[in-house]
Parts: sequence; C-alpha cells; structure tokens
Amino acid sequence: MTNRSTNIDTVLASFEEHWSARILTQVNDYDVRLVKVEGTFVWHSHPDTDELFIVLHGTLDIHLREAGGESAVHLERHDVFVVPRGVEHCPESPKGASIMLLEPTGTLSTGDYADDVPGHITSSTGVRA
Ligand code: NI
Repeated sequence: MTNRSTNIDTVLASFEEHWSARILTQVNDYDVRLVKVEGTFVWHSHPDTDELFIVLHGTLDIHLREAGGESAVHLERHDVFVVPRGVEHCPESPKGASIMLLEPTGTLSTGDYADDVPGHITSSTGVRA
C-alpha cells in the first residue's frame, strides 16, 4: 500500500518515445500502461489475453485480421476498445495519439510477433513510470 498517487499528464510529459509503454500503476495482476504512438506498429496477437485500449488524445486506428478478412476500428478521444485474445491487430496513428492500455503484467507489447522489430518500436513489457 502506498499513499502516493500518480498523474496521467505528469507521466505523459515525462517521456517522448513512441510505441514504448510506461506503467502508470498496477491493479491486481494488471498493468495500466500509457503509450505515445505515431505511425504504424506491427501485426501481432496476444494468445493469452484481451487488450484494452483507451484513447486519451489524438486518434488511433486498430486494424484487425479475422477469419472473414481485415477490418479496422477508428478510435477518437475517450473511445474504448478491446482486442480479444488471439485476434491479430495492428495499431496505427498517422497523426499521433496518447493511449492507455490495460493488460496483464508481463504482457509483451508485440505479442507473438516473431520478426525483427522495426527501429521505431520498443518491444517490451513496459517501464515503470
Ligand atoms: Ni497488442
């Protein structure tokens, strides 16, 4: 137990890197993560968990691959979307966005992606803010 609060704006102001999650806090076995994004991530899935996205600033498109083909969901400020476990997804934000994620502690940002990670992305389980 700590009596120290955390602040979303303070944490967002503390880093600049895109696609590099900061862990805002933890609740039970879950991280609340903050990520600044711009451009395109990589296609991946999380075989063991759903992934909750909340857009704080900007807009985010989440491309999805399912049995029926590809689709995309467009998210604006304060829109909330859950990518179900196992569903291939590729987040993209041409103009940039700040997002909050909720996912189990230890979840790798790039999930099951197995190729070389592009230089503009950090594949990580988050860095404590
Ligand atoms: Ni993901």
